[in-house]
Amino acid sequence: MVHVVDHPLVQAELTGLRCRNCPGPEFRQRLRRICSLMVPAVTADFETKVVSCETPLEMTSGVEVTRRIILAPVLRAGLGFLDGFFDLLPGAAVAHIGLARNEETLLPEPYYIKTPPILAESEVILLDPMLATGGSAVEAARRLIDLGATHLRFACLVAAPEGIATFEAAFPEIPVFTASIDRGLNDRGYILPGLGDAGDRLFGTA
Ligand code: PRP
Ligand code: URA
Repeated sequence: MVHVVDHPLVQAELTGLRCRNCPGPEFRQRLRRICSLMVPAVTADFETKVVSCETPLEMTSGVEVTRRIILAPVLRAGLGFLDGFFDLLPGAAVAHIGLARNEETLLPEPYYIKTPPILAESEVILLDPMLATGGSAVEAARRLIDLGATHLRFACLVAAPEGIATFEAAFPEIPVFTASIDRGLNDRGYILPGLGDAGDRLFGTA
């Protein structure tokens, strides 16, 4: 269930993001552009229904996405995906999932959860650029499911094999979209080669 979005423009943007000397404004712009390139892959199987529409010349038919869309960014780094997803899904609602990874235990510690009513029929897209140990993604998905999500998918940017294995073991049915499967984790739980601490780079807190 892991889809690697290997479009050349995605890979070129990701290379720019990985560079340590990519400044904050450029980091945010690249992230936004990468989203606009990944959203079509992430949403390719969205269910649509036929609707009628009147052009200036005649009646015709078209389609509309059937389900309500909820974007669920994991704070903070997931916020870096939000504008890019909103560009293509402007009507989406947002479920904020505040998790901070404990630097010692590497376990996620929840600090803020604010979601719209998650109807069983909503399409929920979990957003977090980094899938490292997988602890945060598993915690976020579990919370969304507890709140009623039944159609869930996960969009990240850089995934470690360890995180993919943990997430797949917990939720084999949830599709994961990523731009890269990196080599692995270092002894502090950072992805190699990775791009460093995504939240710090986005918000200048390093
Ligand atoms: C980062 C990242 C993920 C998590 C991934 O967030 O954005 O949420 O770590 O690591 P994991 O797969 O091992 O759980 P962090 O907790 O550092 O918070 P931040 O985004 O506020 O910096
Ligand atoms: N969180 C990040 O932001 N980067 C990593 O490499 C691992 C966790």
